[in-house]
Amino acid sequence: MQSPMFSAGDAYERFMGRWSRTFAPLFVRFARVRNGDAVLDVGSGTGAVTAAVAAVAPSSRIVGIDSAAPYVAFAQARHPGDMVRFEVGDAQQLRLADASFDRTLSLLILNFIPDREKALNEMMRVTRPGGTVAAAVWDYGQGMEMLRVFWDEAIAISPDMNARDERHMPLCRSGELEALWREHRLQDVSYEALTIETGFSSFDDYWSPFLENQGPAGAYVATLPARDREQLRLRLRQRLLGDGPDRPIALGARAWAVRGVVPSRALRDEAIDNGPSVSAQIEARKSGRPSI
Ligand SMILES: C[S@@+](CC[C@H](N)C(=O)[O-])C[C@H]1O[C@@H](n2cnc3c(N)ncnc32)[C@H](O)[C@@H]1O
Repeated sequence: MQSPMFSAGDAYERFMGRWSRTFAPLFVRFARVRNGDAVLDVGSGTGAVTAAVAAVAPSSRIVGIDSAAPYVAFAQARHPGDMVRFEVGDAQQLRLADASFDRTLSLLILNFIPDREKALNEMMRVTRPGGTVAAAVWDYGQGMEMLRVFWDEAIAISPDMNARDERHMPLCRSGELEALWREHRLQDVSYEALTIETGFSSFDDYWSPFLENQGPAGAYVATLPARDREQLRLRLRQRLLGDGPDRPIALGARAWAVRGVVPSRALRDEAIDNGPSVSAQIEARKSGRPSI
């Protein structure tokens, strides 16, 4: 189950984990975590959300689940003690009891999961009725500039690479996460854009993490022969610095965030039986057909 693009905790930290750590406190506030809540961090990665929860809610019991064993080991080593536990597991099939959490959070993971509806059903199952399920996904199309710049230049060199651009991933466009939450009859749904600044101390601080084979962009760079990799590096340097000397680079990173309250079991079962899938709704919107 482990993907090579999510395989090394320290490399992931340099690539994306540092931005997850900057973003996580905003997301935890958005999810309305309270001290003492039982919190589940789905797709916990190297532990950014868990660390943010532990900082503001030190009496909270936190469980992190991730499919990548190296990330689980990395995160657990940073959180000794009884209050925090990380486990290898699949978001689509959680080995956790029904209604055992007050808040279930998932940061930058739902777009990677093949059966997102199943994952959301699982997140709702393990959250008590009246508890909150929240998620956030980068706006890969426009608002996540560090990756937008990368893919624009990669595609300018090789137009075929358009298919690998993360902007094609599900749930990263405005409104998609919200539609998924509403379809599943989550209540009091709130949806907003949350933004951070990704600040790089130099061009190398921007570029070198792409060489660590983490995430889809790193996985793409790992396939490039040295000459093509250098061409991409030079284009990115030109795009970010022009002909000028090296200097710090500040880019914006926007994510779409959603939260909703878990309804009673009866309402939830009705939603699973009757709701058109989000993909059906989106396809219907594109084609002008009604979704039911
Ligand atoms: C982009 S990382 C985000 C990690 C962390 N939440 C963060 O914000 O830094 C996506 C994570 O989802 C995990 N993942 C992918 N598919 C999964 C699945 N089916 N079940 C659990 N975790 C999964 C990956 O191993 C990876 O840690």
